[in-house]
Amino acid sequence: MGFLSPVCVIFFFLGVKVYCQYESYQWDEDYDQEPDEVYQPEFQFRQNVDYRVPFHRHTLGCASECFCPPNFPSSMYCDNRKLKSIPNIPAHIQQVYLQFNEIEAVTADSLINATQLKEINLSHNKIKSQKIDHGVFAKLSNLLQLHLQHNNLDEFPFPLPRSLERLLLGYNEISRLQTNAMDGLVNLTMLDLCHNHVDDSMLQERILAKMEKLMQLNLCNNRLESMPLGLPSSLMYLSLENNSISSIPENYFKGLPKLHALRMSHNKLQDISYNIFNLSSLIELNVGHNKLKQAFYIPRNLEHLYLENNEIENINLTVMCPSVDPLHYHHLTYIRVDQNKLKEPINSYIFLCFPHIHSIYYGEQRSTNGPTIQLKTQVFRRFQDDADSEDDDDSHEGPEQEGTEENTDPHYYGSQEWQEMI
Ligand SMILES: *[C@@H]1O[C@H](CO)[C@@H](O)[C@H](O)[C@H]1NC(C)=O
Ligand SMILES: *[C@@H]1O[C@H](CO)[C@@H](O)[C@H](O)[C@H]1NC(C)=O
Ligand SMILES: *[C@@H]1O[C@H](CO)[C@@H](O)[C@H](O)[C@H]1NC(C)=O
Ligand SMILES: *[C@@H]1O[C@H](CO)[C@@H](O)[C@H](O)[C@H]1NC(C)=O
Ligand SMILES: *[C@@H]1O[C@H](CO)[C@@H](O)[C@H](O)[C@H]1NC(C)=O
Ligand SMILES: *[C@@H]1O[C@H](CO)[C@@H](O)[C@H](O)[C@H]1NC(C)=O
Repeated sequence: MGFLSPVCVIFFFLGVKVYCQYESYQWDEDYDQEPDEVYQPEFQFRQNVDYRVPFHRHTLGCASECFCPPNFPSSMYCDNRKLKSIPNIPAHIQQVYLQFNEIEAVTADSLINATQLKEINLSHNKIKSQKIDHGVFAKLSNLLQLHLQHNNLDEFPFPLPRSLERLLLGYNEISRLQTNAMDGLVNLTMLDLCHNHVDDSMLQERILAKMEKLMQLNLCNNRLESMPLGLPSSLMYLSLENNSISSIPENYFKGLPKLHALRMSHNKLQDISYNIFNLSSLIELNVGHNKLKQAFYIPRNLEHLYLENNEIENINLTVMCPSVDPLHYHHLTYIRVDQNKLKEPINSYIFLCFPHIHSIYYGEQRSTNGPTIQLKTQVFRRFQDDADSEDDDDSHEGPEQEGTEENTDPHYYGSQEWQEMI
């Protein structure tokens, strides 16, 4: 199970590998499989709850409301039971699943013996910040994963145990945070705060910088108007979709040498400096649904570029690719530019500059006056026709339309949640 940080490291490498296989958003699904796998047994076990489990199993100590599977004796399943409070968690339990209940409070008594807990899933409940007893989580000194998404929290929980590696707080109403809330979270690799009420003032004083192992930070669907400052240099995945960010400070990414993926769609980006994304590790960049008028310099390792729904009238290839270096080809494989204001396809010189390009999705282009224009999607088949195209990371399968259709699916991007990368 993915509790130990070496495993996280493996995930990281897997992540990179999965990246390299095909279109970006499939990695999410690959990652999602992991928690599902961990979680799956529940479905089999649930049927057994009241019937087949021999009574002596319970004497090990399982809350009467819950089920402790004989073959996973350190796990306790209490999800989907309309529980109004946390049942007593016995000392030997390491994982407890309490999601989809009606729990409002996290009291010290219920967790008093649960010193071995590594993971507690309290998602989809009705927990309120003021009903969490002070210090109740901090006492769980072995806790690695805390799931609190889909609750009624209005404040970032504090204090939390120093051992914590993954903290999921999405879909709450968090708008407050103590300045020292992140001080002790030295081992945190993943923080999900999407769908909250986070604004710029909450993230001042560089409080995020203290999480020196943070690899993934999700801040999508919040109320940010500027880029979060003081991010730790360990960061690899940054999700900022659907905020109101209008600019990116010069040198913003200097402190983020490991950034692999940046998702900033549905913001208000307008004027950005042409080389702002010159980041050697960047593989995926999504700045769709903004107000960009210009293209920008494409860093060498970038593979997937999303520019749809902007205000771009023409793509200046000289800016994207000032020079062609045959020894250091750019890795770009996919560009999406539909719903801009292009009048013609990008200069075919683009295939020289980006020899790995697989498709450019133009779709429909808006026009300032008059009807929309439909530009034909270009699928570059050089590598598919080529017998030996080992160096092409991309898929070789399928006819021309396949790559295109996949990306025209309106749900292709929209439905993607980005919660479990690490
Ligand atoms: C904690 O453990 C003690 C000793 O085993 C037991 O008496 C008590 O009922 C337990 N409390 C809870 C909340 O599980
Ligand atoms: C925790 O609960 C969520 C539902 O909110 C579920 O999707 C997830 O798989 C659970 N996590 C684990 C590890 O069981
Ligand atoms: C952080 O993780 C490291 C490596 O897994 C571990 O040795 C250390 O004890 C952890 N720190 C805390 C405070 O749990
Ligand atoms: C963006 O957030 C607003 C609420 O702030 C919501 O109504 C809208 O559906 C969100 N859009 C997307 C694309 O998530
Ligand atoms: C991108 O960054 C590299 C090194 O960091 C630098 O050598 C190069 O000139 C930069 N390119 C542009 C277009 O800014
Ligand atoms: C493209 O950008 C370069 C460098 O900024 C500029 O010199 C050139 O005039 C631009 N070309 C077009 C067609 O806008």
